[in-house]
Amino acid sequence: MSGARARLGVLVSGSGSNLQALLDACAQEGFPAEVACVVSNVPTAFALERARKAGVAAVVVDHKAHASKADFEKALLETLRAANVEWVCLAGFMRLLSADFLGHYAGRVLNIHPSLLPAFPGLHAQRQALERGVKVAGCTVHFVDAGTDTGPIIAQAAVPVLPGDDEKALGARILVEEHRLYPLAVRLAVTGKVTLEGARTRVEAQATVGELALRSPGATVGQQ
Ligand code: GRF
Repeated sequence: MSGARARLGVLVSGSGSNLQALLDACAQEGFPAEVACVVSNVPTAFALERARKAGVAAVVVDHKAHASKADFEKALLETLRAANVEWVCLAGFMRLLSADFLGHYAGRVLNIHPSLLPAFPGLHAQRQALERGVKVAGCTVHFVDAGTDTGPIIAQAAVPVLPGDDEKALGARILVEEHRLYPLAVRLAVTGKVTLEGARTRVEAQATVGELALRSPGATVGQQ
């Protein structure tokens, strides 16, 4: 892999296991991105520890310390710009971003959601899936628009819903796939292999699409 690596800003609010998956991927030789900074709106988020441990700048931009959403987003933007962030990855970030904010990173904001969108957007996706009685659940990486989990879909992975599953068991099974899928989707996005086409995306390289669409535990970030 030649050329500069894309600089990611990862926005978090909680545990940061998806952040960890991105940090681990970025630590692999040849991965086309690096985490330039991690920003949390929650001062106590464990994700901040993960960033520090990886030697990555960990910044708190607490929404509660700002008088308005506009002020909060201004501070967020300044932090990302100061770290020369080119792509923004939401990883368990629990605030909705405005169209105004997104306009500053047009087509360069990604999110991971623990359902097969467009089913079950918003909070408690795993609970929604169990309540609806679906037999297949999963996760989605998508470009972010101003709606709640409505942006163009980049990649999805499916897992079975098993008899006796509760939110925790299903959530854990989905998380395994999240950690595999997010780095793959980031790789596609930053290398220009997935592009926006209105409400949908076009993904190059059919082999990679196969990897992304199907559950394939053997797939690794290093494969192209
Ligand atoms: C994940 O399930 C992600 O899909 C959702 O929030 C959760 C964050 O988990 N958006 P973590 O903080 O990455 O462990």
